[in-house]
Amino acid sequence: MEKRKIILDCDPGHDDAIAMMMAARHPKIDLLGITIVAGNQTLDKTLTNGLNVCQHLDIQVPVYAGMSVPMLRQQVVADDIHGETGLDGPVFAPLVREAENKHAVAYLIETLMASDGDIVLVPVGPLSNIGMAMRMEPRIVGKIKEIVLMGGAYGLGNVTPAAEFNIFADPEAAHIVFASGVPLVMMGLDLTNQTVCTPDIIERMENVGNRAGKLFGDIMRFTLKTQHEVYGLEGGPVHDATCVAYLIEPDIFTLQEMFTEIDITGGPSYGRTVCDYYGNLGKPANGKVGITLNRDRFWDLVERCVSLYRD
Ligand code: RIB
Ligand code: CA
Repeated sequence: MEKRKIILDCDPGHDDAIAMMMAARHPKIDLLGITIVAGNQTLDKTLTNGLNVCQHLDIQVPVYAGMSVPMLRQQVVADDIHGETGLDGPVFAPLVREAENKHAVAYLIETLMASDGDIVLVPVGPLSNIGMAMRMEPRIVGKIKEIVLMGGAYGLGNVTPAAEFNIFADPEAAHIVFASGVPLVMMGLDLTNQTVCTPDIIERMENVGNRAGKLFGDIMRFTLKTQHEVYGLEGGPVHDATCVAYLIEPDIFTLQEMFTEIDITGGPSYGRTVCDYYGNLGKPANGKVGITLNRDRFWDLVERCVSLYRD
């Protein structure tokens, strides 16, 4: 079985933690490293959360701290959804795991430049680390096999009517990535909102009876609480996990090739992924955008990943 070499770039983050859980154990994924970025919360908190999840699940993968602020705009966080810690809900043992001494951007550059061009980047937070790496060492663009990212939407945003959080949090970094020429897969809200985790899914994962299933439950019970408070929803999407699921079982998804650019003009659509769904612009596609997913098969896969953990 060909393993996909990936670097997971994330801002844990409830759904980031589920993506970590899946990527760390599935036999189709070779998780080389985890790079952390500010996003859902400030970097000190997203880093602590990433290290806590790795420690709690015994994920023996190096963790690197990255960009603490966006490339240009003023920082925004998503404490309304992820809480004061950025991963409210689960309770972890005292943290012993430490991050590597190297900055995440330096790690990305060094690892990609030393590679055979067979590494997939999986950013599921703001694109600050990826954008900065591309600016610091433009040659990495030719060394990235593919970028499978969670972000954007061809429809409505979730932070403004136009913009999804990961892109809105650092539109200029997203512009660099989307204009880079690296083959992109964009799992936007139109796709990720189809995952909708409901109470029966939580019970199903907790019934696996291991530490990972319990952590899934603690994470998603908090997510369902805030999704109801903020959006009035009776379920919670697991946005970031769709990127890992795509790398494991791509046929769960349908995608559409299209040209996408980022609105960095600073107006009411600042941070929008402007997706040319109908090809009006006649520009060559720069990526594939997620359209549908098979929800039952998605949750079957998540359950299989949870079951791979041995306490
Ligand atoms: O808009 C959803 C995205 O923003 C997810 O990656 C979530 O973790 C938050 O970062
Ligand atoms: Ca995220």
